Amino acid sequence: MAPSLLAADFSQLAPAVAQIETAGATVLHLDVMDGHFVPNISFGVPVIASLRARTQMLFDAHLMIAEPQRYAEAFVKAGCDHITFHIEVTDQPTEVIRAIRGLGASVGVSLNPTTPASAIESIVGEVDMVLVMSVWPGFGGQSFMRDVLPKVEELRRRLGDHQRLEVDGGIDADTIGDAASAGADTFVAGTAVFRNPDPPAAMKTLRDLALGAIGG
Ligand code: DX5
Ligand code: ZN
Repeated sequence: MAPSLLAADFSQLAPAVAQIETAGATVLHLDVMDGHFVPNISFGVPVIASLRARTQMLFDAHLMIAEPQRYAEAFVKAGCDHITFHIEVTDQPTEVIRAIRGLGASVGVSLNPTTPASAIESIVGEVDMVLVMSVWPGFGGQSFMRDVLPKVEELRRRLGDHQRLEVDGGIDADTIGDAASAGADTFVAGTAVFRNPDPPAAMKTLRDLALGAIGG
């Protein structure tokens, strides 16, 4: 599980993070939006840097920004362990990957709902993670797009065992099983965790459903 901070109460970030970490979460998904690549603005480097001092969780930054290469260093310095960029923003993904890796972070590449798996054909072997968007990036609380499931299956076949396959958007108790069955191994959930009155219980339920779907 990678709970997305986007759905947390922004006036209470430290307690929100502490609660899920105590409950066993090891990855925190950080949705960074620039108002250009997506029609919304969320939070950025200073917020992430402040949280870094409060938690040991792995910081999984999802950069929904037009110029990932320009800002990657600031996010890594703020404490991001992993940086995911969108394939739609660059014609030179290999350079972006090299730049992020050179900063000491692991690298993910993300695909919008209608971007085909073939868009990352040339670099799929170079990344640590592929993130499939199951909603249009920009906002939490949208409905899961089942149309992306064949792409998840296709990517799972192409990825090695050491590469993660993350699904992001609309993950809840009704959808996580399908994402897991299709081959995803990392599940971003914002609304379903942080808008639940009991985030730790919500995380456990989601995790159990994902494991149940793959017979674990
Ligand atoms: C959407 C973000 C997602 C989002 C998920 O642009 O990338 O991470 O926060 O939120 P829910 O779980 O509410 O769909
Ligand atoms: Zn995200």
